[in-house]
Amino acid sequence: MKTIFSGIQPSGIMTLGNYLGAMKHFVPLQDQFNCFYCIVDQHAITVPQEPAVLRENIRRLAALYLSVGLDPNKMTLFVQSEVPAHAKLGWIMLCTSYLGELERMTQFKDKSDGRGESIPGGLLAYPPLMAADILLYSTDFVPVGEDQKQHLELTRDLAARFNNRYGDIFTIPEVRLPETGARIMSLAEGTKKMSKSDPNQGAFISMLDDADTITKKIKRAQTDSDSVVRYDKAEKPAVSNLMTIYSLCSGKTLDEIEAMYEGKGYGAFKTELAEVVVETLRPIQERFEQLFHSSELDDILTAGAEKANKVANEMLYKVEKAMGMARI
Ligand code: TYM
Repeated sequence: MKTIFSGIQPSGIMTLGNYLGAMKHFVPLQDQFNCFYCIVDQHAITVPQEPAVLRENIRRLAALYLSVGLDPNKMTLFVQSEVPAHAKLGWIMLCTSYLGELERMTQFKDKSDGRGESIPGGLLAYPPLMAADILLYSTDFVPVGEDQKQHLELTRDLAARFNNRYGDIFTIPEVRLPETGARIMSLAEGTKKMSKSDPNQGAFISMLDDADTITKKIKRAQTDSDSVVRYDKAEKPAVSNLMTIYSLCSGKTLDEIEAMYEGKGYGAFKTELAEVVVETLRPIQERFEQLFHSSELDDILTAGAEKANKVANEMLYKVEKAMGMARI
C-alpha cells in the first residue's frame, strides 16, 4: 500500500482555504493509502507563539482533523514534537541543503520581508524540516495546496542528493494538488492567497466561524462592478474565487453556478453562497464541539505518536547508519 503524508501548522484557526485546499482531500485518501497526518508544531514555532495559545491551537487542530471525517482506525494522526526523529532528520536535511536554495524559497522571502536583521533562523531551516517530515515515512504522495509546491520540489532534490551520496534510502515523494481549490484566495483581495495570518479578519473564513460571521464576511467580500456571475480568473479573480468556493462546497460545477445566477447579480449569489458555506462547516463544527474537550482526543494522539515513532525511528536508524553515525 502506498503512503501519504501531510501536515498543517497549528498557528491560528484553520481557514476555509486549509479545508478546501488540503483537509477535505485527506478524507477519501484514508480508504486507499497508508496515511500519516501531522500537527506540525515545530513548524509553527519558526515565528514567535504564545505558549497558552499554541497549546490550544494544537488541540484545536487535532479535533478539526477528526471533525472533517478522518478516522483514527484508518489513519495515523500525531503531533510532530512528540516524534523526536523529525527534529533529528530535520538537522540532517538542513546539512544536506545549500544556503542559496533555502534563500530562494518564496515563502522564506515573503515571511522574512521587512524583518531586517531579525529574520528568525527557523524560517530558513523550515523547508528541510518539512522534507524530514515527509521522508521519514517513505512517503509516495503529499497532498497539499499550491503554496507548498516549491517546498515539495526542494524535498525531492534533497532526497535525491542524499540518495546519491549514501545509497537508496529515501522514497522520492510526489506532490498531489487538488484539481480545484489548490489556491483559495482572500475575500478582500482576489489576487492574494487566503491566509489565517492575514491581519484583516474579513479576508478569511475560519472553519469555526459562526453562521452570522460567515454571512457578513461573504456579503462584504470583494467583487467587481459588472455584476455578472461568470468564471474568469484573469478578468474577474474575486468572483471566480467565490465561485470556486461555491462549487467545492456544493458539488455543483462552475457552469451550473453560472447558469443559476444568470441575470441575478451578486446579491442572490452571495446570500446562497453564505448558506452553502455555513452548511458545509456546520457538521464539522458540531463534531468539533464534542471532540475538543474529550479524553478520546488524547488517546488518539498518544496512539498516533506511538505508531509514528516506530516508523520514523526505523528510518532515522537507516539514515544514521548510512552516514556513519549509528553504532552498528
Ligand atoms: P499550512 O499550515 O500553511 O497549510 C496547511 C495546508 O493548507 C493548504 N492551504 C491552502 N490551500 C488552498 N488555498 C489556500 N488559501 C490555502 N492555505 C493553505 C496548504 O497548501 C497546506 O497543504 N509547510 C506546511 C505544513 C507542513 C507540511 C509538511 C505539509 C509541514 N510539513 C509535510 C505537507 C508535508 C504549511 O505551512 O502548511
